[in-house]
Amino acid sequence: MSEPTSHPSPSSRPQRAPGGFPVVGVVGGGQLARMMQGPAVELGIQLSILAESDSAAAALVVPSSPVGDHTDLEAVRAFAASCDVVTFDHEHVPQDILQALEDDGVAVHPSRAALHFAQDKLAMRERLEGLGIACPRWTRATTAAEVTAFGDSVGWPIVAKTPRGGYDGKGVSIVSAADELADWLARVGEPGPVEGGLLLEEKVDFVRELAVLIARSPSGQAAAWPVVETVQTDGICTEVLAPAPGLDPDLASVVTEAALRIAGELAVTGVLAVEMFEVRARGAEGTEGTRGGRAAYVVNELAMRPHNSGHWSMDGAVTGQFEQHLRAVLDLPLGDPRPTAPWTVMANVLGGDYEHLYPAYRHIMARDPGAKVHVYGKGVRPGRKIGHVNVSGSDLAEARERAGHAADYLRGVITE
Ligand SMILES: Nc1ncnc2c1ncn2[C@@H]1O[C@H](COP(=O)(O)OP(=O)(O)O)[C@@H](O)[C@H]1O
Ligand SMILES: [Mg+2]
Repeated sequence: MSEPTSHPSPSSRPQRAPGGFPVVGVVGGGQLARMMQGPAVELGIQLSILAESDSAAAALVVPSSPVGDHTDLEAVRAFAASCDVVTFDHEHVPQDILQALEDDGVAVHPSRAALHFAQDKLAMRERLEGLGIACPRWTRATTAAEVTAFGDSVGWPIVAKTPRGGYDGKGVSIVSAADELADWLARVGEPGPVEGGLLLEEKVDFVRELAVLIARSPSGQAAAWPVVETVQTDGICTEVLAPAPGLDPDLASVVTEAALRIAGELAVTGVLAVEMFEVRARGAEGTEGTRGGRAAYVVNELAMRPHNSGHWSMDGAVTGQFEQHLRAVLDLPLGDPRPTAPWTVMANVLGGDYEHLYPAYRHIMARDPGAKVHVYGKGVRPGRKIGHVNVSGSDLAEARERAGHAADYLRGVITE
Protein backbone atom coordinates (compact mmCIF):
# COMPACT_ATOMS: atom_id res chain seq x y z
CA MET A 1 0.00 0.00 0.00
CA SER A 2 1.39 3.40 -0.91
CA GLU A 3 1.16 6.41 1.35
CA PRO A 4 -2.09 8.35 0.92
CA THR A 5 -1.55 11.59 -0.94
CA SER A 6 -4.00 14.42 -0.50
CA HIS A 7 -3.86 15.57 -4.13
CA PRO A 8 -4.61 13.25 -7.00
CA SER A 9 -1.56 13.10 -9.22
CA PRO A 10 -1.97 13.83 -12.94
CA SER A 11 -1.09 10.22 -13.75
CA SER A 12 -4.16 9.10 -11.82
CA ARG A 13 -6.47 10.99 -14.14
CA PRO A 14 -8.99 8.72 -15.81
CA GLN A 15 -8.05 7.52 -19.26
CA ARG A 16 -10.86 8.48 -21.57
CA ALA A 17 -12.27 5.71 -23.70
CA PRO A 18 -13.01 6.44 -27.37
CA GLY A 19 -16.63 7.08 -28.27
CA GLY A 20 -17.37 10.23 -26.35
CA PHE A 21 -18.20 8.49 -23.10
CA PRO A 22 -18.30 10.56 -19.93
CA VAL A 23 -16.31 10.11 -16.74
CA VAL A 24 -18.43 9.81 -13.60
CA GLY A 25 -16.51 10.80 -10.49
CA VAL A 26 -17.51 9.17 -7.23
CA VAL A 27 -16.34 10.67 -3.96
CA GLY A 28 -15.69 7.80 -1.58
CA GLY A 29 -14.46 4.30 -2.35
CA GLY A 30 -16.80 2.06 -0.36
CA GLN A 31 -18.97 -0.77 -1.60
CA LEU A 32 -21.56 1.51 -3.17
CA ALA A 33 -18.95 3.07 -5.46
CA ARG A 34 -17.58 -0.40 -6.15
CA MET A 35 -20.97 -1.72 -7.20
CA MET A 36 -21.37 1.11 -9.72
CA GLN A 37 -18.43 -0.36 -11.61
CA GLY A 38 -20.32 -3.41 -12.94
CA PRO A 39 -22.94 -1.42 -14.86
CA ALA A 40 -20.37 1.27 -15.71
CA VAL A 41 -18.24 -1.34 -17.47
CA GLU A 42 -21.27 -2.70 -19.32
CA LEU A 43 -22.30 0.77 -20.47
CA GLY A 44 -18.76 1.83 -21.34
CA ILE A 45 -18.91 4.64 -18.83
CA GLN A 46 -15.68 5.47 -17.08
CA LEU A 47 -15.69 5.77 -13.31
CA SER A 48 -13.12 7.64 -11.31
CA ILE A 49 -13.05 7.25 -7.54
CA LEU A 50 -11.74 9.66 -4.93
CA ALA A 51 -10.71 6.90 -2.58
CA GLU A 52 -9.84 6.83 1.11
CA SER A 53 -6.89 4.55 0.37
CA ASP A 54 -5.66 2.43 -2.49
CA SER A 55 -7.15 -0.60 -0.78
CA ALA A 56 -10.66 0.89 -0.55
CA ALA A 57 -13.37 -1.44 -1.87
CA ALA A 58 -13.87 0.55 -5.10
CA ALA A 59 -10.18 1.39 -5.57
CA LEU A 60 -9.52 -2.34 -5.94
CA VAL A 61 -11.68 -2.52 -9.08
CA VAL A 62 -11.60 0.95 -10.68
CA PRO A 63 -8.28 1.78 -12.40
CA SER A 64 -8.68 5.52 -11.85
CA SER A 65 -8.88 5.75 -8.07
CA PRO A 66 -6.78 8.66 -6.85
CA VAL A 67 -6.38 8.69 -3.09
CA GLY A 68 -7.61 11.83 -1.40
CA ASP A 69 -9.52 13.12 1.57
CA HIS A 70 -13.12 14.15 0.93
CA THR A 71 -12.73 16.96 3.48
CA ASP A 72 -9.71 18.42 1.66
CA LEU A 73 -11.01 21.16 -0.65
CA GLU A 74 -8.09 21.12 -3.05
CA ALA A 75 -8.07 17.32 -3.29
CA VAL A 76 -11.79 17.21 -4.12
CA ARG A 77 -11.47 20.10 -6.55
CA ALA A 78 -8.55 18.55 -8.40
CA PHE A 79 -10.46 15.27 -8.58
CA ALA A 80 -13.64 16.90 -9.87
CA ALA A 81 -11.72 18.74 -12.58
CA SER A 82 -11.09 15.46 -14.41
CA CYS A 83 -14.73 14.27 -14.24
CA ASP A 84 -17.85 15.19 -16.23
CA VAL A 85 -20.15 14.71 -13.28
CA VAL A 86 -19.52 14.12 -9.59
CA THR A 87 -21.58 11.88 -7.34
CA PHE A 88 -21.05 10.14 -4.02
CA ASP A 89 -20.51 6.89 -2.18
CA HIS A 90 -21.43 8.57 1.12
CA GLU A 91 -22.92 11.79 2.43
CA HIS A 92 -19.95 13.18 4.31
CA VAL A 93 -18.54 15.80 1.93
CA PRO A 94 -18.78 19.13 3.78
CA GLN A 95 -21.21 21.74 2.49
CA ASP A 96 -18.51 24.34 1.81
CA ILE A 97 -16.64 21.92 -0.44
CA LEU A 98 -19.82 21.07 -2.33
CA GLN A 99 -20.46 24.78 -2.71
CA ALA A 100 -16.96 25.32 -4.09
CA LEU A 101 -17.49 22.58 -6.67
CA GLU A 102 -20.79 24.08 -7.75
CA ASP A 103 -19.14 27.51 -7.95
CA ASP A 104 -16.47 25.92 -10.17
CA GLY A 105 -19.27 24.82 -12.50
CA VAL A 106 -19.02 21.11 -11.67
CA ALA A 107 -22.18 19.03 -12.22
CA VAL A 108 -22.74 17.70 -8.69
CA HIS A 109 -25.48 15.07 -8.21
CA PRO A 110 -27.16 15.21 -5.80
CA SER A 111 -26.62 18.94 -5.35
CA ARG A 112 -25.24 20.63 -2.25
CA ALA A 113 -28.68 21.94 -1.36
CA ALA A 114 -30.35 18.52 -1.61
CA LEU A 115 -27.57 16.64 0.19
CA HIS A 116 -27.95 18.88 3.21
CA PHE A 117 -31.14 16.99 4.11
CA ALA A 118 -29.37 13.65 4.01
CA GLN A 119 -26.38 14.97 5.96
CA ASP A 120 -28.25 16.48 8.85
CA LYS A 121 -31.18 14.63 10.42
CA LEU A 122 -32.42 17.77 12.20
CA ALA A 123 -32.56 19.68 8.92
CA MET A 124 -34.30 16.67 7.35
CA ARG A 125 -36.96 16.59 10.08
CA GLU A 126 -37.65 20.33 9.76
CA ARG A 127 -37.92 20.14 5.98
CA LEU A 128 -40.15 17.05 5.87
CA GLU A 129 -42.42 18.50 8.52
CA GLY A 130 -42.66 21.65 6.41
CA LEU A 131 -43.77 19.50 3.48
CA GLY A 132 -46.46 17.84 5.62
CA ILE A 133 -44.78 14.43 5.40
CA ALA A 134 -45.59 12.18 8.38
CA CYS A 135 -42.66 11.99 10.82
CA PRO A 136 -42.25 10.64 14.34
CA ARG A 137 -42.77 13.30 17.00
CA TRP A 138 -39.36 14.91 17.41
CA THR A 139 -37.44 17.82 18.87
CA ARG A 140 -34.00 19.35 19.00
CA ALA A 141 -32.39 19.22 22.45
CA THR A 142 -29.30 20.93 23.77
CA THR A 143 -29.81 20.42 27.53
CA ALA A 144 -30.75 17.60 29.89
CA ALA A 145 -33.85 19.53 30.90
CA GLU A 146 -35.04 19.55 27.28
CA VAL A 147 -34.44 15.81 27.02
CA THR A 148 -36.46 15.18 30.17
CA ALA A 149 -39.28 17.42 29.02
CA PHE A 150 -39.50 15.63 25.65
CA GLY A 151 -39.39 12.15 27.20
CA ASP A 152 -42.04 13.10 29.71
CA SER A 153 -44.29 14.40 26.95
CA VAL A 154 -43.98 11.54 24.38
CA GLY A 155 -43.25 8.71 26.82
CA TRP A 156 -40.01 6.90 27.64
CA PRO A 157 -37.91 5.41 26.27
CA ILE A 158 -37.08 7.84 23.50
CA VAL A 159 -34.68 7.61 20.58
CA ALA A 160 -31.77 10.07 20.53
CA LYS A 161 -29.67 10.60 17.41
CA THR A 162 -26.57 12.48 16.46
CA PRO A 163 -27.84 14.59 13.55
CA ARG A 164 -24.63 14.04 11.57
CA GLY A 165 -22.23 11.27 10.76
CA GLY A 166 -24.28 8.27 11.89
CA TYR A 167 -24.64 5.02 9.95
CA ASP A 168 -25.61 1.40 10.67
CA GLY A 169 -27.15 2.43 13.99
CA LYS A 170 -24.02 4.23 15.18
CA GLY A 171 -25.30 7.57 16.37
CA VAL A 172 -28.67 6.15 17.47
CA SER A 173 -29.38 5.51 21.13
CA ILE A 174 -32.52 4.40 22.95
CA VAL A 175 -32.60 6.10 26.33
CA SER A 176 -34.82 6.05 29.39
CA ALA A 177 -33.39 9.09 31.17
CA ALA A 178 -31.57 12.30 30.25
CA ASP A 179 -28.39 11.35 32.13
CA GLU A 180 -27.78 8.55 29.62
CA LEU A 181 -27.07 11.30 27.08
CA ALA A 182 -24.55 13.17 29.26
CA ASP A 183 -21.66 12.43 26.86
CA TRP A 184 -23.47 13.71 23.78
CA LEU A 185 -24.93 16.72 25.60
CA ALA A 186 -21.44 17.69 26.79
CA ARG A 187 -20.36 17.92 23.14
CA VAL A 188 -23.21 20.14 21.96
CA GLY A 189 -21.74 23.35 20.53
CA GLU A 190 -18.40 21.75 19.65
CA PRO A 191 -17.70 21.09 15.98
CA GLY A 192 -18.86 17.52 15.33
CA PRO A 193 -21.93 15.29 14.99
CA VAL A 194 -23.94 17.01 17.76
CA GLU A 195 -22.78 20.58 17.24
CA GLY A 196 -26.29 21.97 16.76
CA GLY A 197 -27.96 19.77 19.37
CA LEU A 198 -29.37 16.25 19.50
CA LEU A 199 -32.33 14.96 17.54
CA LEU A 200 -34.85 13.34 19.87
CA GLU A 201 -37.67 11.18 18.53
CA GLU A 202 -40.50 9.24 20.04
CA LYS A 203 -39.72 5.52 19.94
CA VAL A 204 -42.04 4.42 17.15
CA ASP A 205 -43.91 1.21 17.84
CA PHE A 206 -43.68 0.18 14.22
CA VAL A 207 -45.22 -2.83 12.54
CA ARG A 208 -42.15 -3.13 10.32
CA GLU A 209 -39.63 -1.03 8.44
CA LEU A 210 -40.16 -0.17 4.80
CA ALA A 211 -37.97 1.57 2.26
CA VAL A 212 -38.97 3.37 -0.90
CA LEU A 213 -36.23 3.66 -3.44
CA ILE A 214 -36.55 5.95 -6.39
CA ALA A 215 -34.27 7.59 -8.92
CA ARG A 216 -34.68 11.10 -10.25
CA SER A 217 -32.74 12.78 -13.03
CA PRO A 218 -31.82 16.47 -13.32
CA SER A 219 -34.48 16.92 -15.99
CA GLY A 220 -37.07 15.64 -13.52
CA GLN A 221 -37.77 12.12 -14.77
CA ALA A 222 -38.34 9.75 -11.87
CA ALA A 223 -38.74 5.99 -11.49
CA ALA A 224 -39.71 4.01 -8.40
CA TRP A 225 -38.89 0.44 -7.50
CA PRO A 226 -41.51 -1.52 -5.58
CA VAL A 227 -41.67 -0.71 -1.85
CA VAL A 228 -39.55 -3.16 0.15
CA GLU A 229 -39.48 -4.40 3.72
CA THR A 230 -36.16 -4.00 5.50
CA VAL A 231 -35.13 -5.98 8.54
CA GLN A 232 -32.65 -4.34 10.90
CA THR A 233 -30.63 -6.24 13.51
CA ASP A 234 -28.87 -4.04 16.09
CA GLY A 235 -29.42 -1.03 13.82
CA ILE A 236 -27.87 -2.73 10.76
CA CYS A 237 -29.90 -3.77 7.75
CA THR A 238 -29.63 -7.55 7.53
CA GLU A 239 -32.42 -8.56 5.17
CA VAL A 240 -34.60 -6.96 2.48
CA LEU A 241 -37.79 -8.47 1.08
CA ALA A 242 -38.84 -7.16 -2.32
CA PRO A 243 -41.63 -6.30 -2.63
CA ALA A 244 -42.78 -5.82 0.99
CA PRO A 245 -44.96 -8.88 1.67
CA GLY A 246 -48.66 -8.22 2.13
CA LEU A 247 -48.30 -4.46 1.84
CA ASP A 248 -51.64 -2.71 1.41
CA PRO A 249 -51.58 -1.49 -2.23
CA ASP A 250 -53.04 1.86 -1.15
CA LEU A 251 -50.25 2.33 1.37
CA ALA A 252 -47.70 1.30 -1.28
CA SER A 253 -49.04 4.09 -3.52
CA VAL A 254 -49.13 6.62 -0.69
CA VAL A 255 -45.53 6.00 0.38
CA THR A 256 -44.27 5.91 -3.20
CA GLU A 257 -45.97 9.22 -3.92
CA ALA A 258 -44.47 10.64 -0.73
CA ALA A 259 -40.98 9.59 -1.82
CA LEU A 260 -41.47 11.05 -5.29
CA ARG A 261 -42.72 14.27 -3.76
CA ILE A 262 -39.74 14.48 -1.41
CA ALA A 263 -37.40 13.92 -4.36
CA GLY A 264 -39.13 16.62 -6.39
CA GLU A 265 -39.38 19.19 -3.61
CA LEU A 266 -35.78 18.68 -2.53
CA ALA A 267 -34.62 18.44 -6.17
CA VAL A 268 -32.80 15.20 -5.46
CA THR A 269 -30.82 13.77 -8.36
CA GLY A 270 -29.65 10.17 -8.47
CA VAL A 271 -31.02 7.47 -6.23
CA LEU A 272 -32.99 8.45 -3.14
CA ALA A 273 -33.91 6.00 -0.39
CA VAL A 274 -36.67 6.97 1.99
CA GLU A 275 -36.57 4.79 5.10
CA MET A 276 -39.99 4.49 6.73
CA PHE A 277 -41.79 2.81 9.58
CA GLU A 278 -45.13 1.19 8.88
CA VAL A 279 -47.33 2.08 11.84
CA ARG A 280 -50.90 1.69 12.94
CA ALA A 281 -52.57 5.01 12.23
CA ARG A 282 -52.50 7.33 15.20
CA GLY A 283 -55.30 9.43 13.76
CA ALA A 284 -53.76 12.88 13.63
CA GLU A 285 -56.28 14.52 11.33
CA GLY A 286 -54.85 15.93 8.17
CA THR A 287 -51.50 14.22 8.53
CA GLU A 288 -50.58 12.60 5.28
CA GLY A 289 -50.38 8.83 5.55
CA THR A 290 -52.97 8.33 8.28
CA ARG A 291 -56.03 6.85 6.76
CA GLY A 292 -59.06 5.99 8.85
CA GLY A 293 -57.39 3.72 11.35
CA ARG A 294 -55.65 1.62 8.72
CA ALA A 295 -51.94 1.07 8.41
CA ALA A 296 -49.94 4.20 7.79
CA TYR A 297 -46.33 5.33 7.86
CA VAL A 298 -43.84 7.79 9.25
CA VAL A 299 -40.56 8.66 7.56
CA ASN A 300 -37.39 7.66 9.39
CA GLU A 301 -34.59 9.08 7.26
CA LEU A 302 -33.33 9.90 3.78
CA ALA A 303 -30.29 8.61 1.93
CA MET A 304 -29.25 10.25 -1.34
CA ARG A 305 -27.25 7.54 -3.03
CA PRO A 306 -27.71 3.88 -3.84
CA HIS A 307 -28.80 2.17 -0.65
CA ASN A 308 -28.69 -1.18 1.07
CA SER A 309 -32.47 -1.47 0.64
CA GLY A 310 -31.92 -1.48 -3.14
CA HIS A 311 -29.24 -4.18 -3.46
CA TRP A 312 -31.97 -6.69 -4.37
CA SER A 313 -32.54 -4.74 -7.60
CA MET A 314 -29.11 -5.74 -8.95
CA ASP A 315 -30.53 -9.18 -9.69
CA GLY A 316 -34.28 -8.75 -9.17
CA ALA A 317 -35.26 -5.78 -11.34
CA VAL A 318 -34.96 -4.91 -15.01
CA THR A 319 -32.75 -1.98 -14.00
CA GLY A 320 -30.70 -2.23 -10.83
CA GLN A 321 -30.03 0.75 -8.61
CA PHE A 322 -26.37 1.18 -9.59
CA GLU A 323 -27.13 1.38 -13.31
CA GLN A 324 -30.07 3.66 -12.54
CA HIS A 325 -27.91 5.94 -10.44
CA LEU A 326 -25.44 6.32 -13.32
CA ARG A 327 -28.25 7.02 -15.78
CA ALA A 328 -29.78 9.56 -13.40
CA VAL A 329 -26.61 11.53 -12.62
CA LEU A 330 -25.79 11.62 -16.35
CA ASP A 331 -29.35 12.78 -17.11
CA LEU A 332 -29.90 9.82 -19.40
CA PRO A 333 -33.41 8.38 -19.74
CA LEU A 334 -34.06 6.11 -16.75
CA GLY A 335 -34.32 2.35 -16.95
CA ASP A 336 -37.28 0.15 -16.06
CA PRO A 337 -37.44 -0.46 -12.29
CA ARG A 338 -39.94 -3.31 -12.46
CA PRO A 339 -39.12 -6.60 -10.74
CA THR A 340 -38.19 -9.64 -12.82
CA ALA A 341 -39.47 -12.20 -10.29
CA PRO A 342 -42.36 -12.35 -7.82
CA TRP A 343 -39.92 -12.11 -4.89
CA THR A 344 -36.31 -11.18 -4.41
CA VAL A 345 -34.69 -11.50 -1.01
CA MET A 346 -31.40 -9.83 -0.13
CA ALA A 347 -29.43 -11.10 2.85
CA ASN A 348 -26.48 -9.04 4.01
CA VAL A 349 -23.25 -10.74 4.89
CA LEU A 350 -21.84 -9.25 8.08
CA GLY A 351 -18.27 -9.98 9.05
CA GLY A 352 -17.83 -12.86 11.49
CA ASP A 353 -14.81 -14.83 12.62
CA TYR A 354 -14.00 -16.18 9.18
CA GLU A 355 -11.44 -14.14 7.28
CA HIS A 356 -11.38 -16.27 4.17
CA LEU A 357 -14.59 -15.94 2.23
CA TYR A 358 -13.65 -17.60 -1.00
CA PRO A 359 -13.54 -21.22 0.27
CA ALA A 360 -17.26 -20.87 1.04
CA TYR A 361 -18.03 -20.33 -2.65
CA ARG A 362 -17.64 -24.01 -3.49
CA HIS A 363 -20.32 -25.00 -1.01
CA ILE A 364 -22.71 -22.13 -1.76
CA MET A 365 -22.51 -22.50 -5.52
CA ALA A 366 -22.88 -26.28 -5.39
CA ARG A 367 -25.86 -26.08 -3.06
CA ASP A 368 -27.69 -23.24 -4.78
CA PRO A 369 -26.83 -22.36 -8.38
CA GLY A 370 -29.45 -19.58 -8.34
CA ALA A 371 -27.99 -17.63 -5.40
CA LYS A 372 -26.29 -14.42 -6.55
CA VAL A 373 -23.30 -13.64 -4.35
CA HIS A 374 -21.83 -10.14 -4.12
CA VAL A 375 -18.72 -9.37 -2.08
CA TYR A 376 -17.19 -5.98 -1.49
CA GLY A 377 -13.46 -6.65 -1.23
CA LYS A 378 -13.40 -5.39 2.34
CA GLY A 379 -11.46 -6.85 5.23
CA VAL A 380 -13.57 -8.92 7.61
CA ARG A 381 -14.40 -7.24 10.90
CA PRO A 382 -17.19 -8.44 13.19
CA GLY A 383 -20.49 -6.80 12.21
CA ARG A 384 -19.07 -5.02 9.15
CA LYS A 385 -21.04 -5.28 5.90
CA ILE A 386 -18.81 -7.33 3.61
CA GLY A 387 -21.26 -8.60 1.01
CA HIS A 388 -24.79 -9.68 0.25
CA VAL A 389 -26.68 -12.49 -1.44
CA ASN A 390 -29.75 -12.11 -3.64
CA VAL A 391 -32.19 -14.92 -4.33
CA SER A 392 -35.25 -14.53 -6.56
CA GLY A 393 -38.17 -16.92 -6.85
CA SER A 394 -41.86 -17.50 -6.64
CA ASP A 395 -41.85 -18.67 -3.02
CA LEU A 396 -40.92 -16.03 -0.46
CA ALA A 397 -40.14 -18.40 2.42
CA GLU A 398 -37.86 -20.46 0.21
CA ALA A 399 -36.05 -17.39 -1.15
CA ARG A 400 -35.47 -16.18 2.43
CA GLU A 401 -34.10 -19.52 3.48
CA ARG A 402 -31.78 -19.75 0.50
CA ALA A 403 -30.45 -16.19 0.78
CA GLY A 404 -30.04 -16.50 4.54
CA HIS A 405 -28.24 -19.81 4.25
CA ALA A 406 -25.75 -18.52 1.70
CA ALA A 407 -25.09 -15.37 3.75
CA ASP A 408 -24.65 -17.35 6.98
CA TYR A 409 -22.35 -19.79 5.25
CA LEU A 410 -20.20 -16.97 3.88
CA ARG A 411 -19.80 -15.40 7.28
CA GLY A 412 -19.00 -18.73 8.83
CA VAL A 413 -21.86 -19.05 11.30
CA ILE A 414 -22.94 -22.34 9.75
CA THR A 415 -20.83 -24.98 8.12
CA GLU A 416 -23.52 -27.28 6.74
N1 LIG B 1 -37.80 6.90 16.21
C1 LIG B 1 -37.51 5.61 16.14
N2 LIG B 1 -38.32 4.68 16.72
C2 LIG B 1 -38.00 3.36 16.69
N3 LIG B 1 -36.90 2.86 16.11
C3 LIG B 1 -36.06 3.72 15.52
C4 LIG B 1 -36.32 5.13 15.50
N4 LIG B 1 -35.32 5.73 14.83
C5 LIG B 1 -34.47 4.74 14.44
N5 LIG B 1 -34.90 3.53 14.86
C6 LIG B 1 -34.23 2.24 14.59
O1 LIG B 1 -32.84 2.45 14.46
C7 LIG B 1 -32.40 2.14 13.12
C8 LIG B 1 -31.30 3.11 12.70
O2 LIG B 1 -31.80 4.46 12.77
P1 LIG B 1 -31.49 5.50 11.62
O3 LIG B 1 -31.98 6.84 12.02
O4 LIG B 1 -32.00 4.95 10.33
O5 LIG B 1 -29.91 5.53 11.66
P2 LIG B 1 -28.77 5.15 10.63
O6 LIG B 1 -28.37 6.48 10.05
O7 LIG B 1 -27.72 4.52 11.47
O8 LIG B 1 -29.37 4.22 9.60
C9 LIG B 1 -33.67 2.22 12.29
O9 LIG B 1 -33.57 1.49 11.09
C10 LIG B 1 -34.69 1.65 13.27
O10 LIG B 1 -34.57 0.24 13.33
MG1 LIG C 1 -31.15 4.28 8.59
